This record gives sequence, structure tokens and C-alpha cells, in this order.
Amino acid sequence: MEKKERFEQLLRKENKRINLISRRSFNSTLPFLWSLSELILQSLEPFTSLVDIGSGAGFPGLAIKILAPEKRVVLVEPRKKKVDFLRRARSSLGLEGLEIVEGDFLLFHKKYCQARIDYLVSMGVKKKEGFIREDCGNIVRGYCFVTGEDEVGRLLNHRKVKKYNTEVRKVPGRDLLYLLIIRKPWEKS
Ligand SMILES: C[S@@+](CC[C@H](N)C(=O)[O-])C[C@H]1O[C@@H](n2cnc3c(N)ncnc32)[C@H](O)[C@@H]1O
Repeated sequence: MEKKERFEQLLRKENKRINLISRRSFNSTLPFLWSLSELILQSLEPFTSLVDIGSGAGFPGLAIKILAPEKRVVLVEPRKKKVDFLRRARSSLGLEGLEIVEGDFLLFHKKYCQARIDYLVSMGVKKKEGFIREDCGNIVRGYCFVTGEDEVGRLLNHRKVKKYNTEVRKVPGRDLLYLLIIRKPWEKS
């Protein structure tokens, strides 16, 4: 069985006892989360590494590691039950090299201050402007956020974001959901 199917099987099983994905809409949400992860992967190519802030059930970070195992992927998640799930998924799927930080964005920022990660990606997490920091150069090429219209507007007006190249893409199949890609100046778009 492919890793993608094995991950879905594990999610389905563990979702019965841990709240990872809404149980009522599980069957329709899952294909959407996969297609969104693929869209992010394609939109950021070429790149070698990313960090996913607030990975939850593993989307988009763990899904991207399955789709593109050669990428360096770091997952950041503060909730212990979700982190334990992500660790079980890593070991049962043999996703060697997948890095998991148990903690929030600030812990990642501190731990990876000397690292060079191409993109920071985040979806379903509030107050994303806090992730755009310049006091530590660890995010080299830019940011990719999945978010609604209001937050896209707010981020585009943010003083730090104004210095960068931005691209807004509509997420297919979802009204009012967008991919906001913020590229640092030296990045070719
Ligand atoms: C709504 S869930 C989204 C999960 C997943 N990204 C998705 O879209 O399916 C948000 C997740 O972000 C985590 N989170 C919230 N604030 C965070 C922060 N400051 N740093 C890292 N993770 C955070 C929560 O624990 C939660 O699992």
C-alpha cells in the first residue's frame, strides 16, 4: 500500500479517539487537504525545505513529505496529543528525516535560529503576522499562508510584507479561501 493510503488509514483510525479532523466531514475534507498540499508544493517549487507551523493532523507538512520525500520538512505543533500522532505517523510510514518540534512558533524560532529553511507555511493558525520575523534569518525565501479574505488584506498591508513580492491565488473549490505567497526580494517569482 502507498504511504498516502497508509497515512489516511492511520488518520481514520486515530481520528476516532483524537480530534484531528472533523468526523462529520472527514470523507470530504481529506481529498481537499491533499489537493491543497499538492497546490502548495507546486506553487513553491523549486525549493528544498519548509516548516509547517501548526501541523495538526499533518496538513500540509506531513502530506508534502509523503508527496516529495526528498524535501526537508519541519512540523511545529504545540498540542501533545497531535504531536504524538505525528510521531506515530512518522515511524509507521518510515518518514525518516521528518523533523517534529513539540511547541509553538516561538520555540521553533529559537531552536532553528541558525538553520536555513526556504519557506514557512501555515494554515488554520491565527495571527500569522507574528511568524514574519527578521531578528533571525532562518526563513530564507518566504512564506505561504492559507487563509481567508480578511487576513489576506491585513497581511498585504503589513509593513514587513510590503517590502516583499506577493502573490494571491484562489484555492480551487473553496469560496473565500486563498493562498498568499510572500517572497523575499531575492527570490525569483
Ligand atoms: C485549526 S488547526 C490546523 C491544522 C492543520 N494545519 C490543518 O489546516 O488541517 C491549528 C493548529 O495550529 C496549532 N497552533 C496554534 N497556535 C500555534 C502557534 N503559535 N505555533 C504553532 N502551532 C500553533 C494548534 O495546536 C492546531 O493544531
